[in-house]
Amino acid sequence: MHDTLVDASISLIRNNQHASGAYIASPSFPTYAYCWLRDGAYIAHAMDLYGEHESAKAFFRWVNATISSNRVGAERSLRIVEGAEPEGLGRHIQSVEQVRQSLRARWTLDGRRDDSEWPNYQPDGYGAWLWGLDEHIERTGDLGLWEESRETVEYVVECISKVWSAPSSDCWEEYPDRVHTSTLICMAGGLERIGRRAHDGRALSLAGAIKEYILCHGVFDGRLAKFCNHERHGDQWPPKRCAHAGPSIGDSVDASLLWAAVPYGVLDLADPRMVGTAMAIDRGLARGGGVRRYAADTYYGGGQWLLLTAWLGWYYCRTGEMGKALACLRWVENEAAEDCCLPEQVSRDLVDPVLYQPWVACWGPPANPLLWSHAMYLILRRELDDRAREV
Ligand code: BGC
Repeated sequence: MHDTLVDASISLIRNNQHASGAYIASPSFPTYAYCWLRDGAYIAHAMDLYGEHESAKAFFRWVNATISSNRVGAERSLRIVEGAEPEGLGRHIQSVEQVRQSLRARWTLDGRRDDSEWPNYQPDGYGAWLWGLDEHIERTGDLGLWEESRETVEYVVECISKVWSAPSSDCWEEYPDRVHTSTLICMAGGLERIGRRAHDGRALSLAGAIKEYILCHGVFDGRLAKFCNHERHGDQWPPKRCAHAGPSIGDSVDASLLWAAVPYGVLDLADPRMVGTAMAIDRGLARGGGVRRYAADTYYGGGQWLLLTAWLGWYYCRTGEMGKALACLRWVENEAAEDCCLPEQVSRDLVDPVLYQPWVACWGPPANPLLWSHAMYLILRRELDDRAREV
């Protein structure tokens, strides 16, 4: 039994939730002293799984407050530009740039914009938040929170409808000029969940259009690819590969593509494109039991990420490959320090060891603890415990 790590993870998350409801990404890594919607949605879900509903609710309320207070600026400037009325902001959204400015990936803990140069337009987080909010309401039956959130949800759905096919930074805050398959997966999955809850046909058809786009432009060689590519048309597009080279970075896999299966269900577990994606991730990105983000990763030299290893375990729980799921759990547990802290990544078997030190010189050693790592550990652990009880 590893209840110490479970308890320590819950306490760590609880103790690092700001009074505003925001979860700091890492309390000891100054570069991560913000709250990301992406990290937050999965952290809130983990807290929900362990009955910490008040913590999750406080996060969702913080998101509502943050989005609505920061949209005021956009609303005002729109009114100046268009002479529009204040109510129903969604109807007045005109410019893609305005949406990109409003849907920030990370905010200060008290809900203000962070205007540093670092890429901040990463809409996967908004899909994750829509999914997480629906999960929370499903689990708690808190229709009061749903009522509180509806306006923000409508606004975000409207924003996504304007920008979903435009380039953005990915969930690793990179490649801002590309369209990312896993970003689209999060948006499609989140829209589908919230569309069902709100009986919103528009959100549902938007989710359908995004899925179709993924299957047309985000599939390479019978599995999902890191970037969408307009030259691809599903499996019909002949893969342009030279005999000796591997696939290009955009054609290769990224571990975040697992999200298509769990939690977003954009592809069925048995879909050969999903099976092929997971197989390529396991074979190509797992090293010594831990999972890298993608084969060309150079952030801190490109180590193995705890949260992605837990994700692979979560996927294996869903496919019923419990031995593999357990191996992922054990790997993550073994990375816990004596104080039970789980880092973002471990620095063995680096993709490019030469690039480790320059990051350390810049920002110090990799973030440790990372709340998102703890959250994914909790999620995998809960899923494994639940399956064990069913047997
Ligand atoms: C990761 C993001 C994450 C952020 C905070 C970045 O290095 O690429 O996915 O949201 O850290 O944890």
